[in-house]
Formats: sequence, C-alpha cells, structure tokens
Amino acid sequence: MSKRDKFTSKIGIIAAVAGSAIGLGNIWRFPYITGKYGGASFLIVYLICIMLVGLPVMLSEFIIGRHTGKNTVGAFKELAPGRPWFLSGWLGLFASVITLGFYSVVAGWGVKYIIMSLFNNFSGKDISNLGIAFDDFVTSGLDPVFWQLLFILFTGAIVVLGVKNGIEKFSKILMPIFFILLCILVVNAFTLEGAKEGLAFLFKPDFNQLTMEAIFVALGHSFFTLSLGMGTMITYGSYISKEEDLTKTALQVIVADTGVAILAGVAIFPAVFTFGIDPGEGAGLAFVTLPAIFTNIPFGYILSILFFFLLTIAALTSAISMLEVPVAFLEEETKLSRNQGTLLICLAAGIFGLLCSLSNGAVNITVMGQSLMSFAEYLSSNILLPFVGLLTAIFVGWALQKRVIASELKLKQESTAYNVFMGILKFITPIAIIFVFLYSIGVISF
Ligand code: TRP
Repeated sequence: MSKRDKFTSKIGIIAAVAGSAIGLGNIWRFPYITGKYGGASFLIVYLICIMLVGLPVMLSEFIIGRHTGKNTVGAFKELAPGRPWFLSGWLGLFASVITLGFYSVVAGWGVKYIIMSLFNNFSGKDISNLGIAFDDFVTSGLDPVFWQLLFILFTGAIVVLGVKNGIEKFSKILMPIFFILLCILVVNAFTLEGAKEGLAFLFKPDFNQLTMEAIFVALGHSFFTLSLGMGTMITYGSYISKEEDLTKTALQVIVADTGVAILAGVAIFPAVFTFGIDPGEGAGLAFVTLPAIFTNIPFGYILSILFFFLLTIAALTSAISMLEVPVAFLEEETKLSRNQGTLLICLAAGIFGLLCSLSNGAVNITVMGQSLMSFAEYLSSNILLPFVGLLTAIFVGWALQKRVIASELKLKQESTAYNVFMGILKFITPIAIIFVFLYSIGVISF
C-alpha cells in the first residue's frame, strides 16, 4: 500500500466499516450468547449498550483516527505527546492478536462447513447427528487447525494488497449478497413449527432471567460486534476523508450491524425450538442449527454452500480489519514493511489461534479453569475491548480539545447535539463501563 491510502467512495467506506463490524459476531456469537443469557432481556440490554456505549466509542475512535490520519498508537502519540495515552493503543494491538487468534478458529470452522456443504455432508443427518459431527470436528485436532491457518493466510494475503484494492473492493460486492441470503432464511424461519416460541424467546423479555453476568457479556459484545476497543475504527477512521459525515457513517453501520444480528437471531431461534435444541447450547449453536435448517428447505444444498461461503467472507472482512490495526502500526511506526508486518502478525495470531483450536479438545490447554479458546474469547470481548473502549471514551471526553471534536463531528460547540454527545461520552459511557466492571469483579453488589 502506498503511504496513507484512503477509501475512495462513500459506499466504499460504509462497506468497509460495516464489513468490519458484521461478521462472526453477528451470525455466530450473537445468537449463541443471546441463547445462553436468556433471550429477549439480554437483547434489550445489548441494544442499550450499543446506543449508550457503542455509538459514542465508535465516534471517539473515528475522531481520533480521522483527525490524526494515523495508526492507533501513532494517533494517541500525536494527540497527547509525552503522555501515557498511547498505552491504550498498545493494549489494542495486544487485543488484536488475541482476537484474531480465536476469531480465525471459528472462521476456519466456517471454511470447513463450506466444504461439508459442497460434499452434501449434512443431508440425512438429524439434529443430534449434526451436533455430534460438529463436536467431533472441533475437537479433532489437526483438521480445524488446517482450516484456521488457511483462513489466516487468506486474511494476510488481502491485507498485503492494501486498503483500496483489497478491503474495499471485496466488501462492496459480497456483503449485499449475504444480506439477501439471510433474508431468505428469515422468511423460512416464519414457516417453522417453532416460529412462535423462537420469536417469543428473542423478543418477549423476562427480566427475572437477567443476571449481572448477562449485562457484563452484553456490554462486551457491543464492543465486539461493532469492532471497538482495538483501534480498528481509529485505523479505519484514518482512511476516511475529511468531507465525510462521521455521525452518519457510524449510525448507518450500527443499524446495519444490529439489523444483521437480529436477522440472524430470527433465522436461528425458531429452528432451535423446532428441532428441540437447548438455546443455551453454546458456541456450536449456529453450526448445528443452520445445517439442520438447510437439510429441511428447498434448494438447501445450494443455499448452504452459498451461506457458509458468504459467512466466511463476512468473517474475512472482519479479520482483515483486525489485522490492519497492528499492520498499520508496524508499517508506520517501525522499520518493517507492510509485507513483513503482515507476515509477523499472521504468524503470531496463527500460532495463538492454533493453540486455541487445539484447546477445544485435542490437547488440554487451560487458563483459569477454561479452555484457552474460551479464555481468549473472554479476555478479548469482556475485558480488553471494554477497557480500551473506556480509555478511548475518557480520552476523547476529558483530554481531547473540544475544538477537535466539534470540527470532526461538524458541530458547533454551543449546539445541543454537541452537548448531548459530550454529556453521554463524559459521564454515561465511562460510568456504565466502570460500573459493570466493578460489579463483575465483585467490588460492588446488590
Ligand atoms: N465485529 C466483528 C464481528 O462482529 C469482529 C471484529 C472485527 C472485531 N474487528 C474487530 C472485534 C475489532 C473487536 C475489535 O465479527
């Protein structure tokens, strides 16, 4: 990539930022944690987190990135020279390797499921056989490792090509097709026997079910799904041209991302109840339910190939955005070239992901009583991303010059919109994150 490429068009920006946000977080993680933490009540807390925490943090990252035009460490160094804010950038870099590691494992499952669809491996299997097939595969050792490494390789190859030729072009064409396919599954879901029950689970809240842990997970997922707390939106923000309206971009991306997650929920939960699966089944939920849906609908063979292909593409555009964070850093702040940086991070994330994958059953690797895979997911989405997001919100809310914020948001400092935004960013966002953190480590309780 030439120094500081920029996204070339409005639609390209949306596609790339939405391409980052929309991924396994929406199709794989959202349904499985929503199922695990009680359905509709979880969904509502998640939506509140998106608006009160996700949106302000996304705008903060955009502001930092676009104003400086730099990578996540460089941006903080420029805005707060000689002060320790750049450490927040470093934490984001750390998060990117951890996240890319476990993310590539799940994406690798997606690739394997394209192949299984191609060979018609789901046909004739009932739900319990599909569950067993999934477990056998993820615990089998080298097979999932192979697909995980292949996925990392692909991600690296695209990042080497650079922002314009790689990331933008790819996202623009394939994301809309994915959306259409998801809509087909949603229509199908309404025809299922368990439709009523599934939709009630997703939309009829029972707040007695809501635990503090659920709130903690919902907050973490709002960061994960919007690609926040890593520097992704700082880095992508640096590729957005000055004319662009950041608030509009953020809102459009958030609506798209939330829409896709809910559509995935609507596609999956009716099937969960139709086939009698436990909604709290865990990380395999989508990988068991979706094949079961495909074996039961017309053109299921073709649709399953297409679906897992596009799911993998969605994961790819997200993984690219994770990889872009440390690669942009290495390219701009060290002597490494873009290619060397990409190779280095792919190696690190590849090896870490390999260990995560093996920890699913083939080899006993545990941290704090859980598999390395679960631990990586926990550390990334529940701890690192919200923590870096908290620092980002405090930085923009309390340390950054008002003039910079107002001009990036194209707002007057006296305007109501500006003051509402600053009020939320300075107080509500950080307090909400700190409160949930303190509660989770047991410092406060009711
Ligand atoms: N948001 C993506 C998803 O939902 C994952 C992702 C991409 C991400 N870039 C990120 C998560 C940066 C956290 C930080 O699949």
